[in-house]
Amino acid sequence: GAAELGPYRHYMQKEIFEQPRAISDTLEGVTGIMPELFGDKAYGIFKQIDSVLILACGTSYYAGLTAKYWLESIAKIPVNVEIASEYRYRDSVPNPNSLVVTISQSGETADTLAALKHARSMGMQHTLTICNVSTSAMVRECALSYITRAGVEVGVASTKAFTTQLAALFLLTLTLAQSKGRLSEEEEASHIKAMRHLPAAISAVLALEPQIIAWAEEFANKENALFLGRGLHYPIALEGALKLKEISYIHAEAYPAGELKHGPLALVTKEMPVVTVAPNDALIEKLKSNLQEVRARGGELFVFADADSHITSSEGVHVIRLPEHYGQLSAILHVIPLQLLAYHSALARGTDVDKPRNLAKSVTVE
Ligand code: G6P
Repeated sequence: GAAELGPYRHYMQKEIFEQPRAISDTLEGVTGIMPELFGDKAYGIFKQIDSVLILACGTSYYAGLTAKYWLESIAKIPVNVEIASEYRYRDSVPNPNSLVVTISQSGETADTLAALKHARSMGMQHTLTICNVSTSAMVRECALSYITRAGVEVGVASTKAFTTQLAALFLLTLTLAQSKGRLSEEEEASHIKAMRHLPAAISAVLALEPQIIAWAEEFANKENALFLGRGLHYPIALEGALKLKEISYIHAEAYPAGELKHGPLALVTKEMPVVTVAPNDALIEKLKSNLQEVRARGGELFVFADADSHITSSEGVHVIRLPEHYGQLSAILHVIPLQLLAYHSALARGTDVDKPRNLAKSVTVE
């Protein structure tokens, strides 16, 4: 009801603004890295596993794709990420030493539960879920779990569930790195410090809402949009495109920026807004030349840049600056403006933001 919404117009907007609290609750009590955060049997299981298999759907799948970058770069563990509805129906080669990780807001998604059972039936017994509902089927079915504390998510388009999943997956990355002897005490302390600063960092990004509203008014008149990201931020671009599709019904696609020249560049005209996730990381110079390719074809750029990334606005190039560069955790910050862009574009188009057509919050049938 209206009382619960407080100053917000929709649950989605309320849930976007709850993210500092959701992340802080999810990480509450985490003062150091220890396997027991994931369950009593975690110590033994983490010692045994040599790879990770992530199974999920929708937004949770994109959290999994993001985690692959963290797990391979920080914990040095090979990772496969599979769409649950595909994995369950294809022949694959089981590895009994793999940690099977399901990611699910509801813990009741039929495809993800079936994929988990399929993995187990092939002899993979080490299972862990990152889930927002402690009483769900997924938590009961898995040996280990980490419960995100996003709280009830009402909006069909997932927001705070996604960022809390990312926080939990970063914690899992650090824990596996430690189990494999790949995390020094100094690294542990500095990662924990960065995680603890996340709620404040997210609040600073949420303050960009007025600038994003101005962009959304332009987006509302478009029928197509392209989202670009590189590396860790490619899955974030995918999630930004999904959010826009789900609630504003604008067709959106995401591409890793270096792949643009192999196809989607053909779509670029002055009618095509190109949203770019541009953190100031090792790929920034490469990304800038990808952006020039778009500009040269008349595409209009909407760039989310970090404060110090030396990308400036000019004809056809609009820039919103995030307050700071946040290293590996930057992905969690960069998805926030994409959520707000989708929300305000949908609002401007007058769609039913919290209950988009044809979609359900939790898909418990195949
Ligand atoms: C539905 C929801 C999505 C969600 C997906 C997976 O499609 O609309 O927002 O990402 O299911 O749900 P889960 O509960 O497993 O994370």
